[in-house]
Amino acid sequence: MTEIIQHTSTRLAPFGESIFSTMSRLAVEHKAVNLGQGFPDFDGPDFVKDAAKRAIDGGFGQYARSFGLPETNRAISRYTETMCGFAADPEREITVTAGCTEAIAAVLLGLCNPGDEIVLLDPSYDSYAACVAMSGATARRVRLDGPDFRITEALLRSAFSKKTRAILFNSPHNPTGRMFDEEEYKIVAALAKEFNSLILSDEVYDAITFARSHRSISALPGMRERTVIMGSLGKTFSLTGWKVGWAIAPEPITRAIRSAHQFLTFCAPTPFQRAAADALNAVCEDGAYLEELRREYSNRRSMMLEILQEVGFSCVSPEGSYFILADAMGAGFSDDVTAAKALVKAGVATIPASAFYDPASPDRRWLRFAFCKREETMREAQRRLKVQPLRQLANSAI
Ligand SMILES: Cc1ncc(COP(=O)(O)O)c(C=O)c1O
Repeated sequence: MTEIIQHTSTRLAPFGESIFSTMSRLAVEHKAVNLGQGFPDFDGPDFVKDAAKRAIDGGFGQYARSFGLPETNRAISRYTETMCGFAADPEREITVTAGCTEAIAAVLLGLCNPGDEIVLLDPSYDSYAACVAMSGATARRVRLDGPDFRITEALLRSAFSKKTRAILFNSPHNPTGRMFDEEEYKIVAALAKEFNSLILSDEVYDAITFARSHRSISALPGMRERTVIMGSLGKTFSLTGWKVGWAIAPEPITRAIRSAHQFLTFCAPTPFQRAAADALNAVCEDGAYLEELRREYSNRRSMMLEILQEVGFSCVSPEGSYFILADAMGAGFSDDVTAAKALVKAGVATIPASAFYDPASPDRRWLRFAFCKREETMREAQRRLKVQPLRQLANSAI
């Protein structure tokens, strides 16, 4: 008899294969248009790519200083001043990481002890719960329900206790597209203060906003000292594969983050850090790039909403980020996974949003569509979605 060996650690075994990998595999199998994973199918701007080419040819091939090339830390500080209204100290408060993904991991590994609790607002980005588990802390997951996905005091208070080390906060939010408003910010800030907890604020979509400009929760009175801002070059410059991100926090917190970062990646890729400095400086000098980015995404968002509504989905209209949640159950499917499987067979890959919830308490209503795609890609999805009426697809998926 062959012995089956469980190789995966007990910390990670519950997470299995991520739904992103599963759906990408099914997308390839069915030659589907991939509106699942959140990466653009168009390239980043030439001025940023040229900067990387120059860096590769210009002697930036070795390790960088662990917490970042000096010019990259300076440029992130400048960008933060533009986006959040304060200049973080480039040397003492900023750590350059391998994407925001590494920032999330370094922040949790550097700051948490077993017994600590981290509040997650579900639906939440899938790496949060996995990184909390790797850090030895425990996730306290609070479920926000659609279609409005609002944070209420009663709901959030139920998750806070004296064990709460931090809340992981994300606005603009993946996957709901929410930009949490002033009232919701105040609820989070007040509870963080009352329980002396940190706010780990994932702001990767800070530049992709429709409802209003982004405001960091760190700007609320007294919050700067307890907030870690995490960001990335990937979304703003449509270069998700470059993996340059950052964590910004007051010096004592930054020391803890760096203690993990030095052993995770040691440093982010040097030539891309160099190019990131040029990219961030450029948008601080001239706002035209960010304006154009917002305009283009606003057009893509309108197009995708129109396509989805035309085929019969009710949608959550995003205030920021590049995702739209569509109501799979409202369209007649028994749940989001059944809908995603039926749609991928029809040639359109999506992500069932139940993957962003605590598996013990998922909301199975929503399908996530990414609209960081070229017009042709979205039109092809439209064509495929129109071949068979949604109700028919739903009935045959039962
Ligand atoms: C909310 C959120 N945080 C972090 C990340 C990861 O960012 P990066 O690609 O910079 O690692 C993503 C990517 O999709 C995201 O949606």
